[in-house]
Amino acid sequence: MKTASPNIRDIMATSTVIPVLTIQRLEHAVPLAEALVRGGLRVLEVTLRTSCALEAIRAMRAAVPAAIVGGGTLTRARDLSACAAAGAQFGVTPGLTAELIAAAAKSRFPMLPGIMTPTELIAARAAGFDACKLFPAQQAGGVGMLKALGGPFPDHVFCPTGGVTRANAVEYLALPNVLCVGGSWITPAAAMATADWTTIESLAREAAALHS
Ligand code: 3PG
Repeated sequence: MKTASPNIRDIMATSTVIPVLTIQRLEHAVPLAEALVRGGLRVLEVTLRTSCALEAIRAMRAAVPAAIVGGGTLTRARDLSACAAAGAQFGVTPGLTAELIAAAAKSRFPMLPGIMTPTELIAARAAGFDACKLFPAQQAGGVGMLKALGGPFPDHVFCPTGGVTRANAVEYLALPNVLCVGGSWITPAAAMATADWTTIESLAREAAALHS
């Protein structure tokens, strides 16, 4: 049975860069999403690494309809259901376990599962996924790894994430099996801490203009 969402590729194709967000303060959620959307980045991944992450997803969905908001760092089945309940439109995992595959099949939650090796990719494909996050991309071999994976798996597409930067993103985006990249460089910790939405909007605009 296919477990992958039919529309994760559409979500990936919407934006060349998916900002990976770690939100420390709930009141930052909406102005952050607004700044990113103003800058041209609509697909946002809110990581479940802070206590306000689920509320941040909820707030963004309510106040920023132009954004496509996903939940990230999903490692347990209950993370998927919590994200879906908060209104998230897709989920991203750093890896893929039997528990997550079963949860994705049950919920039909559009998922972008993380893989790092050919064996993990074979398992993801067997579970029905035709698009994955390569994580951590740079550490896993980066552009060379993706070129190599394109040999045996030419129909599989990726969102490399982890170590992707403004400097190397274009090289990733030039690959035929890369639909988009993910990264945190658009939301530097200092800009987040000081609620510097102008800087973040400008970094988003620059990222949105990146292409191969
Ligand atoms: C993550 O999950 O932290 C992402 O891979 C972001 O990685 P980066 O901070 O290297 O962009």
